[in-house]
Amino acid sequence: MASVTVINHPLVQHKLTIMRDKHTSTAGFRQLLREIATLLCYEVTRDLELTTTTIETPLAEMRAPTLAGKKLVFASVLRAGNGLLEGMLDLVPAARVAHIGLYRDPKTLQAVEYYFKAPDDLDERLTIVVDPMLATANSAIAAIDRLQERGAKDIRFVCLLAAPEGIDKFHGAHPEVPIYTASVDKFLNDKGYIVPGLGDAGDRMYGTK
Ligand code: PRP
Ligand code: URA
Repeated sequence: MASVTVINHPLVQHKLTIMRDKHTSTAGFRQLLREIATLLCYEVTRDLELTTTTIETPLAEMRAPTLAGKKLVFASVLRAGNGLLEGMLDLVPAARVAHIGLYRDPKTLQAVEYYFKAPDDLDERLTIVVDPMLATANSAIAAIDRLQERGAKDIRFVCLLAAPEGIDKFHGAHPEVPIYTASVDKFLNDKGYIVPGLGDAGDRMYGTK
């Protein structure tokens, strides 16, 4: 069974509260999402393997730790995933990036793909999928299905908010993928929105409603 890690760090929880507030501006929302993303990135990469390399400091030669293996891939689920992506790249600027264009059909709540572009060698890299919202989980499952079709084997999923219903469905489809989130909220309403949630993440990021 996949694990769910709730990141309770006080800075994450404080920033999330401001993001949830409907009075927070579009610019403020986007800035906070970027800031929270760096903190979530810190947690999701906590157990990355290290190796050592020889360097020279101004005073001495030393063996020093450095990340092992190939560079990470951040896979952003468009549009709202890009808000998390920016903060992740602030912390890991050398990461490779995949883009998965998906929107939720408002009637069926099924994910509809309109774009996909990813590095060729996903099978050799850790892929961290980023999307602020795990609601029905249809989008997250579709994104992970596509990445696996393209060879990804080692995948983690990072979101800001998750609904209990979405976590159950995600676990059913992808028990091998761990979830990292800042909050597990109460429930999904009849339109598939997370309650209490923060509204439509894409609209709040880009001011489209
Ligand atoms: C939002 C969000 C997720 C999806 C979550 O995207 O960013 O991708 O909904 O819902 P689900 O778990 O029920 O699939 P949306 O489809 O609104 O597209 P947008 O990011 O382009 O606004
Ligand atoms: N997508 C969002 O942006 N918000 C929700 O609450 C559910 C899906």
